[in-house]
Amino acid sequence: MQAPRGTRDFGPDEMARRRALEARMRSVLRTYNYREVQTPTFEDLELFLAKSGPAIRDEIYAFRDKSDRDLALRPELTAPVMRFYFRDLKMAPKPLRLFYHGPCYRYDRPQAGRYREFWQMGCELVGDDRPEAHAELLRLALELFEASGLRRYELRVGHLEILRSLLESVGVPRAEQSPLMRLIDKKELGPLEVELGKRLPREKTDRVLRFFEASNVQDARAFASGKRAADAAAHLDRVLSALATLGGDSSKVRVDPTIARGLEYYTGLVFELDAPDLGAEKQLLGGGEYDLSSVFGQPPVAAAGFALGFDRTLVALERAGHAPQSDDRVDAYVAALEAAALGPVQRAATQLRDRGLRVELESRPLPLKRFLSRASQIRARSAVFVGAKEVQRGVASIKLLETGVQHDAPMDAVGDRVASLLQAK
Ligand code: HAM
Repeated sequence: MQAPRGTRDFGPDEMARRRALEARMRSVLRTYNYREVQTPTFEDLELFLAKSGPAIRDEIYAFRDKSDRDLALRPELTAPVMRFYFRDLKMAPKPLRLFYHGPCYRYDRPQAGRYREFWQMGCELVGDDRPEAHAELLRLALELFEASGLRRYELRVGHLEILRSLLESVGVPRAEQSPLMRLIDKKELGPLEVELGKRLPREKTDRVLRFFEASNVQDARAFASGKRAADAAAHLDRVLSALATLGGDSSKVRVDPTIARGLEYYTGLVFELDAPDLGAEKQLLGGGEYDLSSVFGQPPVAAAGFALGFDRTLVALERAGHAPQSDDRVDAYVAALEAAALGPVQRAATQLRDRGLRVELESRPLPLKRFLSRASQIRARSAVFVGAKEVQRGVASIKLLETGVQHDAPMDAVGDRVASLLQAK
């Protein structure tokens, strides 16, 4: 039997690489004082239907439990975290900086970099909507990728109010914009032209299509009139200038006023990060300002955040030849060469473990040749063994596998000796 379509098993080497990347990212999140939260992997179906857009219904793993509750495996974590916030964290001092790392489920068509079970690492910033706060969020997104070791990626930043004001100004009221926003999100300009053409005169359709060539705040602003668009452009300007002050590689940042995002809870600043080398599934991260308060019948609260596709990031790193390295080797492989030595090697293994070393203890006596061949097979850093000669002399033999050099140590000092030999290397 195989794992279900779109899911994967991860072996020890792969897990070590995943954990190595996760550790790097966690240490970046820590330097920004984001603190981890965890929510359930399944939620009431309603939570995701309310504001994630109709497309989510087809993409979701929904089921009914034995008590007839309609539930869904979470396709993302922003709605769950905001449910948690409105239920339990509302009184916490703000701004609140939260992060998560966990599995998500979408009924997507599986292909390289796209799975039905995948991991997101993401952040939510609640209670601060100043451009300076948004700039810091973008800086954090960039820094997570810097820390990952990926070299080629691009962060595109836009603002939904510019796009929405433009559509409104050509005659598409906000309440009717969703289908167009979906086409814009998928960059399906052909179908967009057809849809616009059904309701607008040619010159207005052209105006919208020309907008897709705007690549800076000024160009974009020229397309959208009105206060909301002007405020949005000013906000975007300030975000970019604060981001420049916070540092990082500005050549990786580009204004893209045509970002529409697929989920319907976004309200203002939006951004996406792509790895151009990945082809179709190149989007590694997405996020922006959003409002989910109405789902919970609560007054609005400033909120913005992003999530990165952890698996996709690993695919990008592997393709670029920068897969995270982890020194996931056993420090000492320990065995008795005969039955009389079993007790001494068991005590030696405990000494080694008490010093924090990683130890694999052989449960039965082995001939020296077999022992050493297995030591190199499992890529042990050292092989510690006790045979008849060693029992007589009250010592253990320690062989360092990289150099082949062999040492003896009194039985009660094996732990210290192995620890210092491994450290000295
Ligand atoms: P999203 O763009 O739907 O945003 O997903 C974020 C990232 O998850 C994507 O950029 C992609 O890398 C990864 N991803 C999505 N679907 C799959 C899949 N089937 N297989 C592998 N990776 C995938 C959100 O989910 C928002 N909640 C982000 C956010 C947080 N906005 C505000 N706060």
